[in-house]
Amino acid sequence: MSIEQKIQTMFPRENEIPEFAKLPKPVELCEYLIDGELRKWNGPFQEVTSPIEIVSEGGVLKPARLGHYPRLGEKQAMEALDAACRAWDNGMGAWPTMGVDERIRAVLDFVRRMKERRTEVARLLMWEIGKNKADSEKEFDRTIDYLLDTIEALKDLDRTSSRFTIQQGIIGQIRRAPLGVVLSMGPFNYPLNETFTTLLPALIMGNTVVVKPAKFGVLLFGPLMEAFHQSFPKGVVNFVFGEGPELIPPLMASGKVDVLAFIGSSRVADQLKKAHPNPHRLLGVLGLDAKNPGIILGDADLDLAVKECLLGSLSYNGQRCTALKILFVERKVVDVFLQRFSAGVEALSFGMPWENAALTPLPETGKTDYLSALVKDAEAHGAKVVNPHGGLKNGTFFFPAVLCAVNAKMRVYHEEQFGPVVPIVPFDDIHEPLEYIIQSKYGQQASLFGSDPERLARLVDPLVNQVSRLNLNSQCQRGPDTFPFTGRKDSAERTLSVSDALRVFSIRTLVAAKAGALNEEILNRIVRERRSKFLSTDYIF
Ligand code: G3H
Repeated sequence: MSIEQKIQTMFPRENEIPEFAKLPKPVELCEYLIDGELRKWNGPFQEVTSPIEIVSEGGVLKPARLGHYPRLGEKQAMEALDAACRAWDNGMGAWPTMGVDERIRAVLDFVRRMKERRTEVARLLMWEIGKNKADSEKEFDRTIDYLLDTIEALKDLDRTSSRFTIQQGIIGQIRRAPLGVVLSMGPFNYPLNETFTTLLPALIMGNTVVVKPAKFGVLLFGPLMEAFHQSFPKGVVNFVFGEGPELIPPLMASGKVDVLAFIGSSRVADQLKKAHPNPHRLLGVLGLDAKNPGIILGDADLDLAVKECLLGSLSYNGQRCTALKILFVERKVVDVFLQRFSAGVEALSFGMPWENAALTPLPETGKTDYLSALVKDAEAHGAKVVNPHGGLKNGTFFFPAVLCAVNAKMRVYHEEQFGPVVPIVPFDDIHEPLEYIIQSKYGQQASLFGSDPERLARLVDPLVNQVSRLNLNSQCQRGPDTFPFTGRKDSAERTLSVSDALRVFSIRTLVAAKAGALNEEILNRIVRERRSKFLSTDYIF
């Protein structure tokens, strides 16, 4: 069968979906977690459909229905925030004053319960956002590993704080204390992992949290509600479901949010920050837009460069903040690169997520039209689609389009496409890609492909002051999760990693006392009689 025919017939009929991939039944989420209660919702619901379309009678494509979730309003969002504020209780709540070991026990209990729901959550990831089965399971497992690593990192942090220091006649014990109430919002492309990489570090450090799931990937929180309910005390973690623009601005305007942990667009992050009445009191932990460039030098190992650029630009259909979103190729190798890269794209598997296809349907409404418009605009300004099937569509599926030669007049040169369109810019002078990076609004990562250590070294030094991670002969990526993940300019605020996240959601705080018989006796008694959680030399094993 030709690729065209395969694209036109890629969506299944109901009876063609294998048993192992089927949702046993739609997920009708009717409860939301606020103030330690799983409250029944009697208001309107948001219907959830899948990017996976089903061929119905008569051959018409219809998105599969997955279920619904409560469409809460401003009132419920404020109730969630008030519950988080009560649990925080000006830092005097049971959770923020609890010992680190007790909070670790709560998170371990959560992890144990979460693991039991792996199949349901991974399957919902697949259906809600079209991520293939292996990657959906990987997202779940990576999240569990992240939580377990976070616990180990916290133990380390606590161990180094479990001692007094004496400097200039002053005794001090320095620890990290929580910040307050956190609003946590993840992105649709990693709705589980990236939400949890802010939510759980925030919780384990003693903050209280309101979570608003991403626009897609909401139902997958359903199987985890009970685990949150059972593992954390009342009001410590609260979930709101519904439309972000209805729910979030009032929360920010209340001035009660201390930390905004948001992975999404810089445009929305700016609006939310501006809505807070005391912006200087609000800490932003932000993962934002990016347009990571790949630079392929003339002496690069082209097979390696093609392999990494395929992964970098098209894993999960290019819907990663870290994706390579523009490729600069030195002119003397551009023809060979294009020929091999285009062949690589044409050979990618596509189909349904349960087939573990590399390319799958896209969840965002209107996305394939947006991508077609980008391609059209580039063509109108002189670019060509290099690969034979680039830009072919069927419903929510878009076959990747490799565009060359892209220039500054084209939208795709500037816009973050967040999808399967790969713009390629040939260059003669290395200052062309360097200038692009300097002028770009973004500064997350870049990839540099070449083999001459001296030439590479000359580029490393200027580039590390433009982006936060420079990848040599490797695609851009966030992992491993112990590495710092951040960005410059419009790409991020603060640094996340297993250990950095613990720092981000806490502040160094100390108790200090001038040395002398009275203070020494007081401190000794507090520690010996275990009267404080903060003043303590207990060692967590
Ligand atoms: O969407 C952005 C993610 O942080 C990318 O993570 O590089 O591991 O796919 P990844």
